[in-house]
Amino acid sequence: MKKKIIFSGIQPTGLLTIGNYIGALSQWKKLQKKYFCIYCIADLHSLTIYQKKNILNKNILDILAIFLACGIDPENNIIFLQSHVPQHVQLNWILNCFANFGEIKRMTQFKQKISCNTNINIGLFNYPILMAADILLYQTNKVPVGKDQIQHIELTRNLAYRFNNIYGNIFTIPEKVLNKNGSCIMSLINPNKKMSKSDPNNNSIISLFDNNFIIEQKIKNAITDSDFPPKIKYDLKNKPGISNLLSILANITECSIEQLEQNFKNKNYNNLKESIIDYLCLFLNKLRKKYFFYRKNEKYLKNIMFNGAKKAKKHADFTLKKVYDVIGLDFF
Ligand code: TRP
Repeated sequence: MKKKIIFSGIQPTGLLTIGNYIGALSQWKKLQKKYFCIYCIADLHSLTIYQKKNILNKNILDILAIFLACGIDPENNIIFLQSHVPQHVQLNWILNCFANFGEIKRMTQFKQKISCNTNINIGLFNYPILMAADILLYQTNKVPVGKDQIQHIELTRNLAYRFNNIYGNIFTIPEKVLNKNGSCIMSLINPNKKMSKSDPNNNSIISLFDNNFIIEQKIKNAITDSDFPPKIKYDLKNKPGISNLLSILANITECSIEQLEQNFKNKNYNNLKESIIDYLCLFLNKLRKKYFFYRKNEKYLKNIMFNGAKKAKKHADFTLKKVYDVIGLDFF
């Protein structure tokens, strides 16, 4: 039987955090066992914020090396750079003509971005429609995303329904795959907020490149809670700080939360933190070693990108041809 298709993307903007690893990359790696996975480095999306050429180039290679270090396999799946496959922009235009101004204006991420941005370009507005093009080009069945992207997947589904209603079954209707509970990692300083690489407070995140000393400082400073006597228990509502720390440890060690609660039954918060520091340092040191191994071979990385684009284009072109054909653009 043909494997179902997974599609997801990530923007090449700066260093990733353990939140990105746990919430996205480690899940992407697991999905490879069961699905045909297509993972996109969304460089066109990143242009909605001004990017310096050299930094963008560096970020793209960095993130590709991180994909490989995390165990994403470019041979049996596809890893590619969005701008290498022009069909994304082509389908984007077509979908623009099926999207309503009102529905796009209501996208909460757009509203949030324009509320704290002085450069409100049209790319920011168009962002979710380009995302829909990304997904629909590959007849995607499932899209692993974080909670903040759910609305964009809903929009993608609506655009696909709308198009299919007029032209027949051209697009597969994709479904979102939400991360399992505990895989959304929160800020270490404010555990009610998602850990984000763009957070101005550097102490709220652990970057994949923080060294052992920094990791120790940041985990030691992480918010716990003031229960007395202290209890190490997963309780998102009443103990968000401790729950977040348990999530981090569970994901890094691949232990269940229940198992950890058991192990730390008679221990205190410091014991938990020490354990996290040990495991995180070990884990990140290993990951970085692999990262540097791939990162230093730019020729190899560029080759992966080249082959990825070639494979992606084949799939994308198949869908785009069908779209052009039913619309009436492809009759010469
Ligand atoms: N917008 C996504 C993010 O920032 C990245 C992305 C681009 C994406 N295209 C996609 C995610 C298609 C899923 C599917 O997280």
